[in-house]
Amino acid sequence: MLLTAHVPNMANHPHNADWSPDAWKACTATQQPCYPDASELQSALAELASLPPLVTSWEIEALTSQIAEAQVGKRFLLQGGDCAETFDDCRSTTIASKLKILLQMSLVLTHGGGMPVIRVGRFAGQYAKPRTDDNETRDGVTLPTYRGDLVNKPAFTADARAAQPWRMVQAHARSAITLNFIRSLVDGGFADLHHPEYWDLDFVQHSPLRDEYRRMTREIGQSLRFMETLAGAPVHEMRRVDFFTSHEGLLLPFEQAQTRQVPHKQGWWDLSTHLPWIGYRTAVPGEAHVEFFRGIRNPIGVKVGPGTTPDRLLALLSMLNPDEQAGKIVLIHRFGAHAIAKSLPQLVDAVQAAKRRVLWTCDPMHGNTDLVRIASGPHAGTQVKTRKFDHILAEVEQAFEIHRMKGSVLGGVHFELTGEEVTECTGGARGLSDEGLMAAYRSRVDPRLNYEQALEMALRIARRLGG
Ligand code: PEP
Ligand code: CO
Repeated sequence: MLLTAHVPNMANHPHNADWSPDAWKACTATQQPCYPDASELQSALAELASLPPLVTSWEIEALTSQIAEAQVGKRFLLQGGDCAETFDDCRSTTIASKLKILLQMSLVLTHGGGMPVIRVGRFAGQYAKPRTDDNETRDGVTLPTYRGDLVNKPAFTADARAAQPWRMVQAHARSAITLNFIRSLVDGGFADLHHPEYWDLDFVQHSPLRDEYRRMTREIGQSLRFMETLAGAPVHEMRRVDFFTSHEGLLLPFEQAQTRQVPHKQGWWDLSTHLPWIGYRTAVPGEAHVEFFRGIRNPIGVKVGPGTTPDRLLALLSMLNPDEQAGKIVLIHRFGAHAIAKSLPQLVDAVQAAKRRVLWTCDPMHGNTDLVRIASGPHAGTQVKTRKFDHILAEVEQAFEIHRMKGSVLGGVHFELTGEEVTECTGGARGLSDEGLMAAYRSRVDPRLNYEQALEMALRIARRLGG
């Protein structure tokens, strides 16, 4: 089969002529905080709206074209990062480690899959979290729930939990600082394929996966040298890579304030990030998030889970991409290893029958969260959220298989991970057990793969892509 990527012509998109960035206000908006002081909220939003954007429409168009290629099997998308960034995570070592693990994973996936990888970080703006309950009660005291650093603070006091509008401006600044550092590293040669040793984290040398990874980088080095010998010149394209940002577009006033028109182009662009996504809880046709997202020119991620019926999915696709633009929609399915075989096939069938153009990717994290009680040791009795490496891997493997059987393609993966040596998910090459979880459990929200588990996951997926 000949696959041609349709590079989107986005010059004219009249479908949102009836739309404005605040149209969502007429719809039910869930997962929004209540700001006690309306005039303070307006001042903060006015400030946010006047600041320069974090990304540009050109970058967004480049990403759209790359997603269009991934939709026809010519690229693979890797999306990864923290469940929630915090303002305190805006540190050079934390950012560089996250970049390193994403570069290493993308190297492994490119090598295994034999095709370019689109690198998308859950970073430089992943500051808002959906919550099951609006309030939290402890010892008879009820306070608003913590919704991420974009909204409030985690400490259980009335002050900390009050929604503070200026945190949105702070988040914009933290995102800009993060992105500036990432852009400088990437442009300055840090991502140079000739020097994968720059990305080695200290503990790579102690890892059981060291030999496999080193063998791969040696092979890549050899083929680069071979190409350079053939070309008679250094391969410059290998010295820098594209990196894109993404976050859940949850807090609508924040997204609205950064949604702009740009000279010589039609429509509205959410310039807070390249690839905003709609969370599982808010991907509801007719509600505010879908109404906001339908008007922006960015590519859009949509979380899809056990509650997403075929009818709902098709309704979402009609609203979000009425004119079937290539590169526009990334579906991120997250069912859990136990549920994917039951839920995914009917959605693939529906999308195929309706001839909708999407990029299917798998988030094997959010359907595989367990609550465990530590049985022994100094933390006996403590309850923690965790995920098993084997469940995560099993969901990805089933996803590849289901898409293959349906004649569809799994074109990407989505992970919660960190470049650090945390102990939040169990299993993996070192066989981390429940008892070991408290040694370095740092996440305030969902458990992340640590550096070694993330690399192992990439090696396993690369084998699958190659074979
Ligand atoms: C997330 O990606 O952190 C998240 C909350 O996912 P979901 O919307 O799929 O539950
Ligand atoms: Co999460």
